[in-house]
Formats: sequence, C-alpha cells, structure tokens
Amino acid sequence: AEVVIVRDEEEAGELAASAIADLLRARADAVLGLATGSTPLSTYRALARRIDAEGISVAGVRGFALDEYVGLPAGHPEGYRQVITREVVEPLGLTPELIRVPNGDPATIRTAAEDYEAAIDAAGGVDLQVLGIGRTGHIGFNEPGSSLASRTRVKTLTERTRVDNARFFDSIEDVPMHCITQGIGTILRARHLVLLAFGDAKAEAIAAAVEGPVSASQPGSAIQLHPHATVIVDEAAAARLE
Ligand code: F6R
Repeated sequence: AEVVIVRDEEEAGELAASAIADLLRARADAVLGLATGSTPLSTYRALARRIDAEGISVAGVRGFALDEYVGLPAGHPEGYRQVITREVVEPLGLTPELIRVPNGDPATIRTAAEDYEAAIDAAGGVDLQVLGIGRTGHIGFNEPGSSLASRTRVKTLTERTRVDNARFFDSIEDVPMHCITQGIGTILRARHLVLLAFGDAKAEAIAAAVEGPVSASQPGSAIQLHPHATVIVDEAAAARLE
C-alpha cells in the first residue's frame, strides 16, 4: 500500500476528499464505498466543502455503506442507515435512493446479504472505498478470523468492538451483538481503497495491516492483496510502522 503520513485529521480529510472529488468529476455516476464511525468524518466534511466550492454535480453518485447493526429499531439514530443519511447523504447533497446500507432487519436478514452483493454487482462494483480500522484490526465489521475471501454476511461483534462503539449508545447493553457487513472479499473488489486511521490506539492495527503477515487474524492486512490501496495516517497511528 501507499502510506501517506499527515499532520492531523483535517489534512487527512482534505487528501481523501481530493481523491474522491477527482473521481466524482470524472464520473457523474461514480460508486462510493462509505464507512461510518469517527474516522471518515473529516473526509466527508472536506468533501462537502469541495462539492460546494467547485460545483461538482453529485445527483447521480451511487453509494454502498460497509455495514449495519442487526436488530436496532428502525430509525434508531445510531443505526448506520441514519448515520449515513445524517453525515453523508445530507451534507453532500447525494440522492437518497442511490445510497444503500445493508438491511439489518432480523425479519429479512436471511436474504439481505445476498441482495446487497447483487446490488453492488449491478452497480458495476465500487470505484473508491473509504475505510477505517478497528483496534481489533477489523475493516468493515470483519473481525479477526474473517475469511479473506468473505462476502457480505452476518457476523458477531467482538466484545472489544462493542466496548469501543458503546460511546454512541446509552450503555454497552444497547450495542447490538450482531452486524451485517461487506466481506473482506467484497471490499477487495473495490477499485481503490482509502484506509484512514488516527491516534495511537490504531498504531498496532495499522502496523499489522501495512507490514504484518497477510492473515485472517488481522483483517486489515488484506489491503496488501489490493493493487491500489492508499493508507492515510497521522503520526500517532504511524508510530509502529518500520
Ligand atoms: C464502520 C466500520 C468500522 C470502523 C472502525 C473504526 O463502517 O466499518 O470498520 O471504520 O470500527 O471506527 P472509528 O472510525 O469510529 O474509530
């Protein structure tokens, strides 16, 4: 992977946003892969500014979120459908019908994964996938032990990830046990991966992803199998790189 070390999250966001803006200018119906969580927020903010300032037309842009919790009540503010609407679709002015999030409704979960893969295929695949990484090394919600060839499916969240994400909920009990996530194989089919990480809590996961052996026990290491992966990190997240 190409590793870029930047001063701070704002500079990382500018850099990632400029790669996305180039894509959107080249392709009016570009397909974006969208991450949630804290990491991509500076990217989405910078992208919203550029779309505004440069008058980039985004009405035809399509998007696929990486993952969703299973079993949150419909419309829950921390469900990734709501998060994507609030943090991406609205500020960027995207067309809501063109932005998909895996369906975490238990009633339809048996077919949701296959439907999602089929929708990504029908869109012609993802042009640029934004990624964060968990302290466990997960990308999407592919926790350690996920097959490097995996496709969208239901997974169990690790305790560590539930603890990390409890900050978005009233208590850890409210964090769902399960999620539906694009697989590592799904992510690897995107044409460009942009992985962002900030802070020393991510330093080990970044070193394992960029320099460690490629292994299902470090899902982020799958980026080494990708011909066009860009890793944008601050000094703290880069601290364990050789
Ligand atoms: C989010 C996702 C996760 C996060 C990761 C880091 O859609 O798939 O892999 O990117 O958990 O989360 P933050 O950015 O909140 O540290």
